Amino acid sequence: MKQRSKARKWAAFALLAVLSLVVAACGSDSEGSTETTTSVEGTDTTAPAVVGASGELEIFSWWTSGSEHTALEQLFAVLNSTDPDVEIIDAAVAGGAGSNARQVLATRLASGDIPATWQTHAGGALVDYVDQGVTVDLTDLYATQGWADVLPESLLESLTVNGEIHAVATGVHRGNNLFYNKAVLDAAGVTLDDDTTFAELEAAADAIAATGVAPLCLGDVDVWTDVTLLENLILAEVGADTWMGLLNGDISWSDPGVVTAVGNLSTALSWAQEDHQALDWTGAVQALADGRCAFNSMGDWAYGELLVKQELVDGVDFDSTVLGDANIFATVTDVFVVGAGSDNEDGAIAWMKALMDPDGQLSFSRFKGSSPARNDVDVSTGGPIAQRNAAALADGILVPSLVQDQALIPPAISQAFSESVVLLVATGDVEAFTSAMDAAIAAG
Ligand code: GAL
Repeated sequence: MKQRSKARKWAAFALLAVLSLVVAACGSDSEGSTETTTSVEGTDTTAPAVVGASGELEIFSWWTSGSEHTALEQLFAVLNSTDPDVEIIDAAVAGGAGSNARQVLATRLASGDIPATWQTHAGGALVDYVDQGVTVDLTDLYATQGWADVLPESLLESLTVNGEIHAVATGVHRGNNLFYNKAVLDAAGVTLDDDTTFAELEAAADAIAATGVAPLCLGDVDVWTDVTLLENLILAEVGADTWMGLLNGDISWSDPGVVTAVGNLSTALSWAQEDHQALDWTGAVQALADGRCAFNSMGDWAYGELLVKQELVDGVDFDSTVLGDANIFATVTDVFVVGAGSDNEDGAIAWMKALMDPDGQLSFSRFKGSSPARNDVDVSTGGPIAQRNAAALADGILVPSLVQDQALIPPAISQAFSESVVLLVATGDVEAFTSAMDAAIAAG
């Protein structure tokens, strides 16, 4: 089922991307570099000298999986070409969705050990760091670089806290994809459109189970993957307006659509492949690639992993649909911030500029599975899923992911969501779940 030719294509793409960056850096009279002319005994020599950022630059993230790290390296390559005197310290902490990194970071920030730059999400997570006073206001940088002109307005708003812009986005993930192994579905005689109701999914799951394959690919050694599944089931049942109402407290979590979705979660979990509790999200992607199971409800970082680590071809080996309305796009915007008072703010600013490099954004998105944050990057050479998700990002109905802290509400509510799902899965107590969520939103 695997197509190794795709791996070669990606490797060639990576090489080309890096080469083009190096060429661009050598050929351009880029900001931060200058030329000095020295006259020695009547002879003029022109020596290039780079006056850019320098020193060690700690870049803190949770991008350690095969695809995540390959994508991150595309951005490192940009920085290496624009600011060669910067020594990148890759301080990535393993654990999908930052399950470990966020805790490590919280401990460091509390003790004043502030990384020069770290990864987080636009929205609630960013607001929390800004409120702690540990991030640098980048509003002037945005003005001098003209970045407001190349970013969608809603994205820029999600980077803005109290009128100040505090982050730079690498890309926007869609949280609500349902990926599937095409050969497994073909063997079961199942076909799906771009949008799928839960009833259609159930019928598909029955047909797949009858062929002896687990319908659901799950890796829930970390609970956030179960929470992602529930978030996507809720979105599918209630739609965008009710979702926003649930987040802002206008609608109770005892809404019939939520209760139906919670029932659907229980059904879907019964479809998971046997070893799901031993695997993380990358293990679930691997299980899908191996044909041990059919569907994976996940952000499109799984798309990157299917392409890069699993070396599969989208539209051929696997495809994706959306549960519910295919226009709904659950946003998960990856950003980096500059640590206030860290030991290399200049280096971190150079990193911000590297993140906004158009070629860098394109090659990053190809490996990461996200859509570029910049709206002037041509994605027409991407695969069908990349195209579909970029179109939905541009024209669809954007809603913030709660599980990924994107909603403009305190991260404590996202934490409560996770804890409530743990209890729900353990006890099946729907009423306890809905009232815990109502209480968390009311307290937030
Ligand atoms: C999300 C992040 C993605 C991806 C995913 C899995 O929080 O936004 O970029 O890394 O976690 O680790």
